[in-house]
Amino acid sequence: MKKKILVTGGTGYIGSHTTVELIEDGFEVVIIDNLYNSEAVVADRIKEITGIKPQLEVFDLCDQKKLNTFFRKNKNITAIIHFAAYKAVGESVSKPNEYYRNNLVSLINLLDAMKQFHVADMVFSSSCTVYGQPERLPVTEDAPMQPAISPYGNTKQTGEEILRDNCTADKNIKAISLRYFNPIGAHPSGLIGELPRGVPENLVPFITQTASGLRDELKVFGNDYDTPDGSCIRDYLHVVDLAKAHVIAVKRLIEGKNKSTYEIFNLGTGKGVSVLEAIKSFERVTGIKLKYRITGRRAGDIEKIWADPSFANKELGWKTLLTLDEAMQTAWEWEKNIRKKN
Ligand code: WQD
Repeated sequence: MKKKILVTGGTGYIGSHTTVELIEDGFEVVIIDNLYNSEAVVADRIKEITGIKPQLEVFDLCDQKKLNTFFRKNKNITAIIHFAAYKAVGESVSKPNEYYRNNLVSLINLLDAMKQFHVADMVFSSSCTVYGQPERLPVTEDAPMQPAISPYGNTKQTGEEILRDNCTADKNIKAISLRYFNPIGAHPSGLIGELPRGVPENLVPFITQTASGLRDELKVFGNDYDTPDGSCIRDYLHVVDLAKAHVIAVKRLIEGKNKSTYEIFNLGTGKGVSVLEAIKSFERVTGIKLKYRITGRRAGDIEKIWADPSFANKELGWKTLLTLDEAMQTAWEWEKNIRKKN
């Protein structure tokens, strides 16, 4: 009998890639998604990749009645991987209450349902944004959280604290928070990838949309930082590597291999890459000369961050295997495929 995993936000970017890896690892997957930032057709694309279409329930996790009805109908959920959340940093500044309500009420509803329906394990989608600008680099999991610079970042910090408090209060709940650095790229099939609504906030979709002619040029937000080439540094990891980490983490909980009821892992390559280096990687793998212009800094950007992934390497037996070039290559293949579809 296959173990069944609930993946919230499973038609989204990281959720869909994780669903593929879960199915390929022998799990059954049920997705809850309100399709706020994704499309139901992603479930069909997952079937094209894996041969199996995940069950998809379309409703909002903030609706506790619907969530409880879901759990009454789906009794054999082994564990939850919780992706569903609003994630646009800029948007969160202009709509703080939407972000606090959506990202926190959905988590609290899920935790209440876990207790009521005896689901013990949750993997939580967190972010390196909780660190702000770390004092020391590479950043380890015990680095202090800096005051959040956006409501989005605050919902990740608060989400982790809510999880930790639930795992402390209720011995039947155990959780792992995965702090992602910068996920990029797409599945090698070219069938799933990042589908930003409107103008992308993130670097790589903006690069690929500029290369495909959808955007006139890429603005590089500042080259006067204290970095080798003046542009910001981030730790870009391939979304397929990131997805695989979720399978390992949920199995750690299911198999009771966790060493405490609440654990945190950084998921990154351990290598910092600047914006200008990322552009060069894209140009190298595609042969396209990217049109970009250096402009002023973007409010809220930190200067540089990259992970110390040694805890995940050691404890999870996970490390990134795919390269920046492979991420750029798959991001470009995905962009060309969605342009064909639209
Ligand atoms: C990366 C670098 C920009 C766009 C955010 C969230 C994080 C996670 C990933 C959700 C920065 C520069 C970008 C552009 C640019 N989100 N840039 N021109 O801000 O590191 O992280 O997204 O999980 O939580 O904080 O990612 O891709 O927006 O920016 O120069 O058009 O690219 O200044 O240095 P970021 P990003």
